[in-house]
Amino acid sequence: MGCKFPTLVHPRAWIGDRVSLGEGVVICANACLTTDITVFPHVHVNLCATVGHDAKLGAYSTISPGANISGKVTLGTGVEIGTGAALIQGVSVGDGSVIGAGAAVIRPIPPHSTAVGVPAKIIKTSTDNS
Ligand SMILES: CC(C)(COP(=O)(O)OP(=O)(O)OC[C@H]1O[C@@H](n2cnc3c(N)ncnc32)[C@H](O)[C@@H]1OP(=O)(O)O)[C@@H](O)C(=O)NCCC(=O)NCCS
Repeated sequence: MGCKFPTLVHPRAWIGDRVSLGEGVVICANACLTTDITVFPHVHVNLCATVGHDAKLGAYSTISPGANISGKVTLGTGVEIGTGAALIQGVSVGDGSVIGAGAAVIRPIPPHSTAVGVPAKIIKTSTDNS
């Protein structure tokens, strides 16, 4: 029999209508999720992060403090968004990618990439690490 993870939402988080939270999701204080958002299992939305309408946050992703995820953004599985990063509306970030602290993502980021800066540029891909 598998174990079941609780879904934890801090009482001072703000969650709007039609927000679906998967098993094992953690939403920290002062995070704000607006409407029509799907948060897949085991996502962590840290302090003061915001998530806009129609966003999809892939399983095992982490949104660091103060990051801003705009409307219709899609994150793949296991994405890490650094503290204070901003993703403009409609962009996607592929599975396993990392967005640096303070980055501004204005174009889609492919899987297994590390992107930093304003605007965000890819500095590494997983093949660089092999
Ligand atoms: C993006 C990140 C993962 C890169 O880490 P890394 O793979 O170890 O990369 P390095 O530290 O070797 O840096 C590689 C280059 O990118 C630059 N860089 C790294 N992070 C950067 C950032 N956030 N913004 C701009 N440039 C950055 C470095 O200056 C370096 O440039 P150089 O080659 O010209 O010297 C990391 O710096 C980062 O921003 N992590 C987010 C941490 C965070 O927000 N944690 C939240 C905790 S709650």
